[in-house]
Amino acid sequence: MFFPNEVERVLKSEDEIKRRVAEMGRMLTEEYSGKNPLFLCVLRGASVFFADLIRNVECPLEIDFIRTSSYVGTNSSGDVSVEENIPDIQGRDVVVVEDIVDTARTLSKLKTVLQGMKPSSLKFAVLLDKPSRRDEELADFKADFTGFEIEDYFVVGYGLDVDGKYRNLPYVGVLKN
Ligand code: IMP
Ligand code: MG
Repeated sequence: MFFPNEVERVLKSEDEIKRRVAEMGRMLTEEYSGKNPLFLCVLRGASVFFADLIRNVECPLEIDFIRTSSYVGTNSSGDVSVEENIPDIQGRDVVVVEDIVDTARTLSKLKTVLQGMKPSSLKFAVLLDKPSRRDEELADFKADFTGFEIEDYFVVGYGLDVDGKYRNLPYVGVLKN
């Protein structure tokens, strides 16, 4: 298996991720049974998780893609932008799929923008959450579906990158610092 020098250790193995994503798929299947939800993938970090997750959801969903940006290297710039090109979500049951919640600035900004577009419902599914990274203002921010809560490590793999690299690792690994 590809194990780059910059990676210190595996935090979540391929198997562990697979099992958890299947569980999340079952929860989403239950939540959206009889509905036609729109799953929105936040590019690019959520792409790998998204592809696996939607194949574990058993209802006639649709997919689309949006993009946000805030990170330079391993530091959030704090200045989050959401790409203009958001699909029409009015009246839809929307599930935003993201790789990780860190300070939660990205998702809370996205939440405000998407709420303004009048979806019928709006929920967030994230693979990873680092709750210790929130400052006071966003301390209560919580995704509706979370794969794993993790400590404050910078992680790569399974879609997550450092400067564009290592998204292709099949596991989530801790970056050496
Ligand atoms: P937030 O706005 O601080 O919650 O940051 C969320 C975004 O930062 C995520 O969408 C990721 O792209 C990126 N990010 C946060 N922590 C990590 C990490 O440990 N590894 C890779 N990317 C991360
Ligand atoms: Mg991201």
